[in-house]
Amino acid sequence: MFVSKNLDVNNLGHLTVGGLDAVALAERYGTPLYVMDEDLIRENCRAFKQSIDRYYDGRGLCTYASKAFCCKAVCRIAQEEGLGLDVVSSGELYTALQAGFPMERVYFHGNNKTPAELTMALESGVGQIVVDNLEELQLVGSLSRAAGRVTDILFRIKPGIDAHTHDFIRTGQIDSKFGLALENGEAMEAVDEAMAMKGVRLKGLHCHIGSQIFDIAPFELAAEVMIRFMGEIQRRYGRALEILDLGGGFGIKYVDSDNPSSYDEYMQRVSKVIHCCCGEEGLPIPYVVIEPGRSIVGPAGTTLYTVGSVKEIKNVRTYVAIDGGMTDNPRYALYQAAYDVLVANRAAEPKTQTVTVAGKCCESGDLIQENARIQEVGPGDILAVLATGAYNYSMASNYNRIPRPPVVMVSQGESRLVVRRESLEDLLRNDL
Ligand code: LLP
Repeated sequence: MFVSKNLDVNNLGHLTVGGLDAVALAERYGTPLYVMDEDLIRENCRAFKQSIDRYYDGRGLCTYASKAFCCKAVCRIAQEEGLGLDVVSSGELYTALQAGFPMERVYFHGNNKTPAELTMALESGVGQIVVDNLEELQLVGSLSRAAGRVTDILFRIKPGIDAHTHDFIRTGQIDSKFGLALENGEAMEAVDEAMAMKGVRLKGLHCHIGSQIFDIAPFELAAEVMIRFMGEIQRRYGRALEILDLGGGFGIKYVDSDNPSSYDEYMQRVSKVIHCCCGEEGLPIPYVVIEPGRSIVGPAGTTLYTVGSVKEIKNVRTYVAIDGGMTDNPRYALYQAAYDVLVANRAAEPKTQTVTVAGKCCESGDLIQENARIQEVGPGDILAVLATGAYNYSMASNYNRIPRPPVVMVSQGESRLVVRRESLEDLLRNDL
């Protein structure tokens, strides 16, 4: 009935999230409100972990891509579930540190890490730095030597696969701001430099081919390209790299028509490619890392709003205005992202009308969804937008000086605040 399996309707006809009444949550914590289902996040962590353990005989790691939703509570969950953590900035790293996340399981990504960020990563003992380019390699080398240490690095490689077209294509394209290209020799040049450099130890390779991908085939092709390159490195240096990090990107169901592949099937098919290509290349099976973000937290999130005005423009459209908008969910404005929307206090009723859900920002493009099918709706109703757990809170802004909403976690029939609502004073904290 709903896109996420933790949602239901209770005997009051209200939407429930993880068994809790969404209308009661909105009353208790106020709106706009992000609700995250901790039990579903943990279930998703376990599914990935079990699957990677199974197909790689326990020699692999599921790291959570914290950019999807980063706060101390979720870092603690990832830690307790035995996951690694992908961070891309000093802010995400600091959050992980404050949450007490074990630094050896942290992978530091990003295409332009600053010297200050790299220094912080080295000082805090980050396990792996995923080096994006030749300048960064030099920087990591010199910072490591100055600190008298040897840093484990991976290289981010462009496998040249565009997974976002309808039928994914092998572009061989080198026009991406991320990583080192294979076809012009840049990636091998980086390998040569790293092999000769003191202060770094080249442990492996990384790639990430995109996000919200439903097909398994582009992942298989990326794995093959990476193993072939590992084979080349082995022939050149007589040494096999230990780690293969294949990134994230697994699609989730936002609306009924979305049909993502099963993650276990992904793991099985990619593992088959890895085993087969490693056999052909005479390579040992590497330690395989994956980095799901959206697929761990996306389905676990629901955003609740209170409806203000309902503006019917005859023969044009009806605008339903909510007390949030692009500041807490910029994904429709940015990507025309599809979402399922419903009236939480009338969740059992049929959807009888088509509306445009508009935010409160001074910006015509501040829409959450156009042409959304929805129940009868009026001022004071609670609107729920589903599957908002990934890239909503993490991409929220203070445009129009709107404070960011709080995050509430629900688990085992209880709710608790894990991120407070920003106050007006918070907005002025840095003003002089
Ligand atoms: N690893 C790397 C290196 C990445 O760049 C990303 C996402 C991930 C892992 C996690 O990908 P996921 O499993 O979440 O698809 N703001 C966009 C998504 C940007 C994704 C960026 N990189 C959105 O709202 O759809």
